[in-house]
Amino acid sequence: MIALASDHAGFEYKERLKGVLTSLGLSYRDFGTASQEASDYPIFAHAAAAAVSTGECERGILLCGTGIGMSIVANKHPGVRAAACQCVEAARLGRLHNDANVLAIGGRLTDWATAEAIVREFLTTPFEGGRHERRVELIHTLTNL
Ligand code: RB5
Repeated sequence: MIALASDHAGFEYKERLKGVLTSLGLSYRDFGTASQEASDYPIFAHAAAAAVSTGECERGILLCGTGIGMSIVANKHPGVRAAACQCVEAARLGRLHNDANVLAIGGRLTDWATAEAIVREFLTTPFEGGRHERRVELIHTLTNL
């Protein structure tokens, strides 16, 4: 189950991503927003990240203008490792090295084809483990999050 959320700036990509997730055989839960009317990204990022934090959703995909605000909010939730990505390589390394469980994308900075490729990479790349295991654990033990 994927937690999906956006503000107005990411709304169009959020809606388009539903088809991508369905084509990959994945279910999603939409935490808003529901239109392109101006809205406050922390509200939607908070709701989706909380669902990942509790385990209700396995992963999260968040969209705003830059991906930055969404990732800042998501990373305040225990157990969440959110990566704001502008290219496929960042998404690949975020999975391999950081075991990122939330992806944030900026709808105003990233064209649709790139955004879709980033999402596919995020959803299909495994965590490498090994030396990265300890580092990922330290993220949480050193921050109590
Ligand atoms: C909205 O104008 C914009 O600030 C928001 O979508 C996001 O980019 C914040 O990080």
